[in-house]
Amino acid sequence: MNNKKNNILVAPSILSADFANLERDIKKIEEAGADWVHVDVMDGKFVPNLTIGAPVVKSLRKVSNLVYDVHLMIHNPEDFIDDFVNAGSDIITLHYESDCKNLKEALKHIKNSGKKAGLSIKPKTPSSVLEEYIDLIDLILIMTVEPGFGGQEFMTDCVSKITESLELIKKHDKNIDIEIDGGINAKTAKLTVNAGANVLVAGSYVYNATNIKEAIDSLKV
Ligand code: DX5
Ligand code: ZN
Repeated sequence: MNNKKNNILVAPSILSADFANLERDIKKIEEAGADWVHVDVMDGKFVPNLTIGAPVVKSLRKVSNLVYDVHLMIHNPEDFIDDFVNAGSDIITLHYESDCKNLKEALKHIKNSGKKAGLSIKPKTPSSVLEEYIDLIDLILIMTVEPGFGGQEFMTDCVSKITESLELIKKHDKNIDIEIDGGINAKTAKLTVNAGANVLVAGSYVYNATNIKEAIDSLKV
C-alpha cells in the first residue's frame, strides 16, 4: 500500500452490480483488472438506504481472491466488526460520523483481528478530524458524495481534503492509503489522483460501462 501516483488501485463497488448475479459480477471486474472489491454496507439509519450484511460478504469471499474492502455506513459499527472479520473482509472502514461508542477501540479491534482499518469522512466533515486517529488506521476514505446511493455527482469541493490528508500522512510519516468514493469517472479520477489519492472506488462508472476493462484502465491515470 502506498500513495504513489503511478500505482492506482481500482475498487469497483458492487452496489452498482446486479444483486442477482454478484458472483458473476465480481468475476467480471476481477478479469477486467480490478484490485479490490468495494462492498457498501448500509443500515437504513446512518444512511437512507439498506444493502447487505456480513453473511453476503462471507458467501462472496469464496468467489474471488480480490481484496474485500468493506465500507460500513452503519450506526453502532462496533457491534458488527467481528461478523465482518469472520466473513473474510480484508479492510473494514468505519465512519467518523457514526455513533460508534469508542472509535479508537473499534479501529484497534479491527487491526488486532488482523485486518486493515479504515476511517471515512462524509463531504461536510473536515480532514482535521483524522489526525487523532492517524496511528490507528491503514486507510482514509474520503467521500465525494453524500453516502447512501451510487450514481451521484462528484463534489469537487472535497478535493482539497485529499491534499490535506496527504500532508497529514507525510507529517506523521505513515503508510496510509487515500481512497476516494463517489462520482468517480475518468475525469474526476484524474483530479483526485493529482491531489494525492491512490485508491479509487467506482460503482456506476465501472458497472454501467460497455467495456469494463476499458473503464477500469481509464481510472489508472
Ligand atoms: C455511496 C457508496 C459508494 C457508491 C459509489 O454511499 O459509498 O461506494 O457505490 O457509486 P458511484 O461510483 O456510482 O458514485
Ligand atoms: Zn462506498
